[in-house]
Amino acid sequence: MDGYGLGLRNVSSHCSISEMDDYDLSRLLDKPKLNIERQRSFDERSLSELSIGLARGGLDNFESSYSPGGRSGFDTPASSSRNSFEPHPMIAEAWEALRRSMVYFRGQPVGTIAAYDHASEEVLNYDQVFVRDFVPSALAFLMNGEPDIVKNFLLKTLQLQGWEKRIDRFKLGEGAMPASFKVLHDPVRKTDTVAADFGESAIGRVAPVDSGFWWIILLRAYTKSTGDLSLAETSECQKGMRLILTLCLSEGFDTFPTLLCADGCSMIDRRMGIYGYPIEIQALFFMALRCALAMLKHDAEGKECIERIVKRLHALSYHMRSYFWLDFQQLNDIYRYKTEEYSHTAVNKFNVIPDSIPEWVFDFMPTRGGYFVGNVSPARMDFRWFALGNCVAILASLATPEQSMAIMDLIESRWEELVGEMPLKISYPAIESHEWRIITGCDPKNTRWSYHNGGSWPVLLWLLTAACIKTGRPQIARRAIELAESRLLKDSWPEYYDGKLGRYIGKQARKYQTWSIAGYLVAKMMLEDPSHLGMISLEEDKQMKPLIKRSSSWTC
Ligand code: GLC
Repeated sequence: MDGYGLGLRNVSSHCSISEMDDYDLSRLLDKPKLNIERQRSFDERSLSELSIGLARGGLDNFESSYSPGGRSGFDTPASSSRNSFEPHPMIAEAWEALRRSMVYFRGQPVGTIAAYDHASEEVLNYDQVFVRDFVPSALAFLMNGEPDIVKNFLLKTLQLQGWEKRIDRFKLGEGAMPASFKVLHDPVRKTDTVAADFGESAIGRVAPVDSGFWWIILLRAYTKSTGDLSLAETSECQKGMRLILTLCLSEGFDTFPTLLCADGCSMIDRRMGIYGYPIEIQALFFMALRCALAMLKHDAEGKECIERIVKRLHALSYHMRSYFWLDFQQLNDIYRYKTEEYSHTAVNKFNVIPDSIPEWVFDFMPTRGGYFVGNVSPARMDFRWFALGNCVAILASLATPEQSMAIMDLIESRWEELVGEMPLKISYPAIESHEWRIITGCDPKNTRWSYHNGGSWPVLLWLLTAACIKTGRPQIARRAIELAESRLLKDSWPEYYDGKLGRYIGKQARKYQTWSIAGYLVAKMMLEDPSHLGMISLEEDKQMKPLIKRSSSWTC
């Protein structure tokens, strides 16, 4: 199956990109009433899209592709909860807390700080606006019809991209986006200034590879949600996208289309054995490439970038779907692999030694279900499960529909391990003892079942919910949200939970962690109105479905 035939067509036809991108929204607009009821969320353009979606039979599309075989327990979230929806008392509290975390630059809101934890003595850098942390905040604001803060954030970070970035005497690539920034208020001069961190202050001095990808993904979410094409079309935004992608699309010594990374370059920003080709970055890379493809102009500068993107997407999806995918069958094949194979006929291309397969994975793997493993490189497969990469793979349609379903099957059948009492484990399983010493370098924060090492992160709830809606399994999201609702507010919105079941508030977890708050709000809003999913999800296999011609949409 080749999902990029359409992409290739896009090189020559601008309009088909728009169609590709609009199609996914239309299929989700199964309940127009909700969108109209929602205050301020859609402008006139969106409302007209809405009726187009309906004319195309959005409901049919939603149901036929998202509930194959009439999966039991499936009902569209909108239809089941529309009449019974009573705002949970936590929602108002969450909005209040989210608004408290807003950061202003010269009177304009430009982001949200990572945590507003007065009780904590150590502020560290939690008083900064992190790019990745702001994503769920941004989505919450967009879903609530408040796009200004998102636009300001996109522009502010774009400005920061233009800074010269150095670590000691070494200069970083032009396209690098900051991990975080801080607004400094000078009460005497009455001026605001910004300080940014591109990795030169971060623990471990690693540049955030995910920031640029999130920036592109957010630019599309903003465009999709507001219908305001003018921001993405500015020469500044076009250049910003090209610079980010230039960092990743250049040719070098790579033999794989995946992106080679240092440990700690993403949400897991400490040494955790994710160096190499971590799934989180590969999934975000894929999604950012697809978002950029829909937004880049076909002008002289954009054209070359677009061609490169299309080629890379082609190779990347093949590589990921073939080599990162693990299910019962694949595990059995690897278990029986021959080693030391040479030449093109090799089956075990990366020379993975079957003895290196960890014991736990044989028990963990259900008969039905599968996932993208953490990392694949020569003689090394990291069999750990990582939540973010797998959810983003579903949202970006990096996973085929079958793979997406299999990921959800796995979550369902390994609920106790992956969700337990608090959604959702960032990674599974934890590494312990000797392995922990070697892999983390004896990191006292990443002890087993804590923080990045098998800790449970409420922020991941929004990604799980989005993946559930996309795959037509909203009941899984409801179950997870219920768990979160039983603890989050009472525990003051912790950053993470510890323990095999995620029962304990994390040892060093901040309270009032903004993305825990925003993640909950986004999950609730999406479940109530699944049409929101369109801003963070991309449809796939377009050429397998008839292309619907329409005159104008968001780029042509
Ligand atoms: C921690 C997390 C990182 C997050 C930051 C701010 O360092 O590992 O992902 O962005 O806190 O919340």
